[in-house]
Order: sequence, then structure tokens, then C-alpha cells
Amino acid sequence: MQAESPVKSPKCDLLDSCGTFRVLVGVTGSVAALKVPLLVSQLLELPGVDVRVVTTEHAKHFYNPAEVAVRVYSDANEWELWRQRSDPVLHIELRRWANLFLIAPLDANTLGKISSGICDNLLTCVVRAWDTSRPLLFCPAMNTAMWHHPITSRQVDGLKEFGYVEIPCIAKKLVCGDQGKGAMAEVSTIVDVVQQFIQKAAESPQEGAGQVL
Ligand SMILES: Cc1cc2nc3c(=O)[nH]c(=O)nc-3n(C[C@H](O)[C@H](O)[C@H](O)COP(=O)(O)O)c2cc1C
Repeated sequence: MQAESPVKSPKCDLLDSCGTFRVLVGVTGSVAALKVPLLVSQLLELPGVDVRVVTTEHAKHFYNPAEVAVRVYSDANEWELWRQRSDPVLHIELRRWANLFLIAPLDANTLGKISSGICDNLLTCVVRAWDTSRPLLFCPAMNTAMWHHPITSRQVDGLKEFGYVEIPCIAKKLVCGDQGKGAMAEVSTIVDVVQQFIQKAAESPQEGAGQVL
């Protein structure tokens, strides 16, 4: 532990949030993470919406965080922020901050982890600490052979039992050359679903934004 004051930027960034509806986008190591800059820019076009991103390390292989219009948090931020007892814990700050958690894309690895409660990085710690009365939306994205493995439907069903909402993957020619189901839903579809939750929250704020679909 160091005596120096904590890295203040992540906390200050959350405090500076200007939106009335706060969307946390979780990004995992699917090739569909390429679309994250586009997804974030389209979410920011929704009125009153503020966005932050939490990413896995492998996801960063597929996009450049510098090309995302908002703050991108990753594992190093979690550990840099906490130096002593009074310091904030980033995964708890993020779950407090967000009205809605959108995991897009959700890869097979993180699907398996969150379905069984594993929390070994910043993103999965936010999931594990998530207030299940708030919406958590997930967009699976994986190779079609992975998608059709019997473990996938079991794990997806498990997430739905927690109350999380699936934005189903679609069939198309995948980046690996295979044809079939497993591609992440279109960005426009994902933004439409988020918008429905925002409308629902505006209509009945005390009930939260759950159960739109
Ligand atoms: C080029 C490439 C593309 C990949 N695309 C996917 C994918 O679309 N879906 C998936 O589930 N895994 C995919 N993977 C495998 C994941 O990146 C790998 O399981 C990784 O450990 C996921 O880590 P994370 O869940 O912590 O982000 C891909 C790997 C590579 C090298």
C-alpha cells in the first residue's frame, strides 16, 4: 500500500456524470468488440443518456479504447484506485453509478464465468455485485460451433433465471468464415432495446426499468 492519495480520476469521472440515465457497457473478448466505438456513440445520441465502458483485457485486442467517446475502465484502474481503507472500490462505484448494465459483446468465456459466479476481473466483479432489481442486458457473440455447444443454452438460461435479459445473437457469415448463429445482434437492435428500458424507467421510475421485453 502507498501513502499517496488515490488515483482520483475514475471516481471524479463518475461524479461528473451529466446524464439522467446511466448506461454501463461491458465489453468482452469477442471479435464483435470491434463495434464498441459505434455502439457507444449511438447510445450517447439517446437523450439524457450517459455512458461508461468496462472492458476485459482480451476485449482491448479488438478495439482501441482511445476511439471510444467515453471513459473506458479496465482491471488496472480497479487496483490503482484502491490504496487504503478510505478509498473507493471501483467495481462497487460502477454498480452504484449505473442504472443499466449492457454487456455487448458477451463472449463464451465470460458467459461461463458469470453464469457460475466467478468474478476475477473488473467486469465480472461488477456483474457479481450487480443490483438485480436493475436491468442487466447481455448480447452473446461467439463462433457458431461454440453457440451450439449444449453448455451455452444452459448458461444463457441461467442468466435469464437471474433476471438478466438476452438480446439474442443472429445468424450470418462470421468473421472466422463460418456461417450460422452466433454473431452479436446489430448495434441498432441493441440501442433500440436500451431505449425501451429508458422509456420504461421514465414511465415508472419507482419500479426501475426491469421487464420490458
Ligand atoms: C481473433 C479471435 C476472435 C475471437 N472471437 C471470439 C468470439 O467472437 N466469441 C467468443 O466467445 N470468443 C472469442 N474469442 C476467444 C476469447 O477472446 C477468449 O475466450 C478470451 O479468453 C476471452 O476473454 P474475456 O472473456 O476475459 O474477454 C476470440 C479469440 C480470438 C483470438
